[in-house]
Amino acid sequence: MTQRRPIVAANWKMNGSLTSIRPLLEGICSGLEVKSDAEVVICPPYVYLAELADKLSKSEIVPGAQNLSHLESGAFTGEISADMLKDFSCKYVIVGHSERRALYGDTDGLVAAKFMRAQDVALVPILCVGEQLAERESGDTEAVIERQLNAVIELAGIEAFNDAVIAYEPVWAIGTGETATPEQAQEVHAFVRLLLARHDDAVANKIRILYGGSVKAANAVEIFNMVDVDGGLIGGASLDADEFLSICHAARGS
Ligand code: PGA
Repeated sequence: MTQRRPIVAANWKMNGSLTSIRPLLEGICSGLEVKSDAEVVICPPYVYLAELADKLSKSEIVPGAQNLSHLESGAFTGEISADMLKDFSCKYVIVGHSERRALYGDTDGLVAAKFMRAQDVALVPILCVGEQLAERESGDTEAVIERQLNAVIELAGIEAFNDAVIAYEPVWAIGTGETATPEQAQEVHAFVRLLLARHDDAVANKIRILYGGSVKAANAVEIFNMVDVDGGLIGGASLDADEFLSICHAARGS
């Protein structure tokens, strides 16, 4: 059995202000003096990365980003490059979050290009996959996940998943308060591992697969206890220090 260190990653989305993130970061840092088994990652809005890099320089919490451009540099107004994220000590970057897929035109192909661009500069992509409610109801969950994963495998190759993280986030559970049951999460996580194992067993065993979608202190333990769940991607609950800390401490090494 491969040991996989869990990850608990905060996705702050477009929330917070300098005034609100300072006490939030202080709360999280002091709460993590009691160490979590998990690697803790915080993905703030870009403009707060400098503040994060500064405040986290002496902590083990790792900065990450919510998105990046698939291009290197140039006349692309409003975009942020992979190298810029490295300048602010980012180690991880979320790619293919369902909000970007649904609202900002991040197609499977673009997500795959962003995944590769991140790895070009040794950023670890957290690749989000997940089905919409209608897709689950019509029995298409596995087909959707397979399509989203295959787009990246085809472009980047299976070996690229040695340095990547996957987050399964059923779209119907994001920000809705409705969480997948631990069994529903486990079923899809096992399917993701199986899909990867068809290409490479070792990669499938090693990769960390996070669950995301209304994870909170009250349900984290039962979700994280599932064998193929290696931590979580946390939205709303990551904006409250106590709530987020409980989730971090709920993640146990396998
Ligand atoms: P949520 O968001 O925890 O607020 O549901 C998770 C995510 O979108 O990553």
